[in-house]
Amino acid sequence: MKINKVCVLGGTGFVGRHLVARLANRGYKVKVLTRHPQRHREIEVLPNTTLIEADVHDPTVLLENFSGYDAAINLVGVLHEYPRQSFRAVHAELPGKVVEACRAAGVKRLLHMSALHADAAKGPSQYLFTKGEGEQAVMRAEGLAVTCFKPSIIFAPDDNFYNQFANLLKTFPVLPLACPDARFAPIYVGDVAQAFEVALENDTTIGQSYELCGPRVYTFREVVEDIARMLGLKRLVVGLPDSMARLQAKVLGLLPIKVFTTDNYLSLQVDSVCGCNSLDALGITPHSVESIMPMYFGGMIQRRRYDSLRKVAGRD
Ligand SMILES: NC(=O)c1ccc[n+]([C@@H]2O[C@H](COP(=O)([O-])OP(=O)(O)OC[C@H]3O[C@@H](n4cnc5c(N)ncnc54)[C@H](OP(=O)(O)O)[C@@H]3O)[C@@H](O)[C@H]2O)c1
Repeated sequence: MKINKVCVLGGTGFVGRHLVARLANRGYKVKVLTRHPQRHREIEVLPNTTLIEADVHDPTVLLENFSGYDAAINLVGVLHEYPRQSFRAVHAELPGKVVEACRAAGVKRLLHMSALHADAAKGPSQYLFTKGEGEQAVMRAEGLAVTCFKPSIIFAPDDNFYNQFANLLKTFPVLPLACPDARFAPIYVGDVAQAFEVALENDTTIGQSYELCGPRVYTFREVVEDIARMLGLKRLVVGLPDSMARLQAKVLGLLPIKVFTTDNYLSLQVDSVCGCNSLDALGITPHSVESIMPMYFGGMIQRRRYDSLRKVAGRD
């Protein structure tokens, strides 16, 4: 299938920025739809890339933007619900609208981002349940060449997960951690972007759903303790018993800005580890956390040193 023009939803996010840059540099003509173009002007600097303000939930807007494109990529997803952003609307209804718009606009190829253990029958959280519903909607679409991706947690120097814990560790000497024994197989964002690129260029991926995991499995406690070590910080990570973890999720979930909610707690009840890692099948050699993150966090230590020297010299 010859693909030249690709329309990306969620292309301004963490994964999207990496994927869009990769596709643009590979010569694809990329259009990125966003609610907030003014926040993402750097994307327009990429070759062959346009950034368009669009309400992707509006079927007519989708149809307009998909017309003349060969492929659509949907990366839109949220970790937390807000009054105007329900899991169902974002993870389940939007993929259905994308499928319809692809059909109506004559887009023949769709790549869809789901999540590891997304499951419309037994997803333990609303996040995983609705992601499963979205996956079903795209995988059952007739007359459309679909590929679906289900990654574990995704890491990189500009990620949300490792950086959120780095910030907490820099601020607090003791970190009470919910679900310390939950397991992850973090996958590098570059490997995820490569998986999407391979799919665009290889028709054997059509109709497939790919679990994506990094090369090593860590407990949540190990991830957080490793971040502290990489930052050169001596910190106490205290694993919370289950009842306290639930309480922490309930209390933090009441805050106007969400960092950890009961739904996140429920997602952590299933290990984010692949049953069958597809990277091999896609010809991708995964990068380890150890080959990427220590250099980045090491740079932070240097900057902290320079900052304190500047302070001593009265130049802060
Ligand atoms: N990061 C991970 O560790 C991880 C792991 C597994 C699966 N995933 C999945 O991978 C995808 C990308 O994740 P990410 O980490 O890159 O997310 P992200 O950084 O939060 O980016 C989310 C993107 O979705 C768009 N978006 C968010 N809420 C929206 C809404 N209510 N309506 C329309 N658009 C909305 C945003 O676009 P604008 O704000 O520009 O409109 C943004 O480009 C998601 O589907 C996520 O569930 C991520």
